[in-house]
Amino acid sequence: MQTLRDLSALRSAVDALKSDGKPLALVPTMGALHDGHMALVEEARRHGRHVAVSIFVNPKQFGPNEDLDAYPRREAKDAQMLQSAGVDILWAPTVEVMYPGGFATNVSVTGISDGLDGAARPGHFDGVATVVTKLFNQVRPDVAIFGEKDYQQLAVIRRFVADLDLPIEIVGLPTQRAEDGLALSSRNAYLTEEERKAALALPRALGEAKRQIEKGEPVEGALAKAIASLAAHGFDPIDYVTLCDAATLEPMAVLNRPARLLGAAKLGTTRLIDNIAVDPA
Ligand code: PAF
Repeated sequence: MQTLRDLSALRSAVDALKSDGKPLALVPTMGALHDGHMALVEEARRHGRHVAVSIFVNPKQFGPNEDLDAYPRREAKDAQMLQSAGVDILWAPTVEVMYPGGFATNVSVTGISDGLDGAARPGHFDGVATVVTKLFNQVRPDVAIFGEKDYQQLAVIRRFVADLDLPIEIVGLPTQRAEDGLALSSRNAYLTEEERKAALALPRALGEAKRQIEKGEPVEGALAKAIASLAAHGFDPIDYVTLCDAATLEPMAVLNRPARLLGAAKLGTTRLIDNIAVDPA
């Protein structure tokens, strides 16, 4: 595995890899890798693809009061995991390489970015769309793999890839979960032992609301019960628990087409998100 931090070295390495005609898959990450990321790497390797993984903690997607400085950084351990998984290129640019002096461009996706995390974290999806556009131009993958845990992020990325005619196949992989059901996330590392136990209330509340809504109970009541359950387990604030159209993320009051139930809330200092498919009978 080659670890590269310089754009011209990356370009040469990508040209050399692609010279055999096999497709190149990219797994964009912010590091602190866990089994969820490694499942994305495994998916990237399917069909004999070459694999590049990027690690870049992107300052543009963190708000002023968020955890940019505290975000876990473990590049040496991450590199070992990626090497063992047979990754060809680790692209780990510095902030100066990604955003050189004078950088002034913003990729902004309207509509699908506006609600949910877009409302709770102003500017977050502009930061994501800007850095992912850059990563795509830098690495030039044929395929890029993302987790469904960040469901709105995946929808935003699909939107700008289609809108900008980027010749990249976007693959979304189901959320990887711990044995007890908590969605794997680098931010789980912040949870105390007590909080880790309480965190389970999030997938459980979403699962229970899904069952109720699919059984035909009113959406509003099911969401209210999920919110009450999160509050009872110490989540505060609860940014949202919402049923949305699975493709457009428009809020839904009645289950009449494929939907996604999404939740985001803070436990202590850690903000957790999760989501689950809800299907009409
Ligand atoms: O999901 C993430 O880890 C990040 O948002 C991404 C896609 C790597 C962009 O920084």
